[in-house]
Amino acid sequence: MAARPATENNQAALEPAELARRTFLAYLSGLLSLAIGVALAVPLVGFSLAPLFKPSRKRWVKLCQAAEVPVDKPTKFVWSFPTMDGWLSKVERGTVYALTRDGKTFVILSNACTHAGCGVRWDEEREVFQCPCHDGRYNREGEVVYGPPPSPLKQFPHKVEHGTLFVEL
Ligand code: FES
Repeated sequence: MAARPATENNQAALEPAELARRTFLAYLSGLLSLAIGVALAVPLVGFSLAPLFKPSRKRWVKLCQAAEVPVDKPTKFVWSFPTMDGWLSKVERGTVYALTRDGKTFVILSNACTHAGCGVRWDEEREVFQCPCHDGRYNREGEVVYGPPPSPLKQFPHKVEHGTLFVEL
């Protein structure tokens, strides 16, 4: 028997074997499309959800003995801790200012200016945190009092355990 061109109009006239082959190919095509869709979706979903399962990089770092922080005077402390970056070991370092009014409660301020990240320093005479880059100034609580900084200095969570002051970085 000679092969006939398959069109929708004559599909009903196709022989059962021809129809079964076409149905099989249609299912196979659908399955391949589904497999390709899943193969493309899995990495995208994984990429989107990965941050949820990433362990937190925050840690408590010993800053000093709580009694070392003078009352009513922002005091600079340099923290450091060892860390691994892949196979590379390095030491993270940074600076914070600790302030206490009563020797029991503390405010721990970042020294990074909120305008462009320059390091601020406490100016004892003018009683402000002075930013050297664009003359931004903050009061002793870290609130903006002059210049372009858009927000107060960042405050770090902290705790005192057995007389030692820890900061969460
Ligand atoms: S970076 Fe501090 S005022 Fe601009």
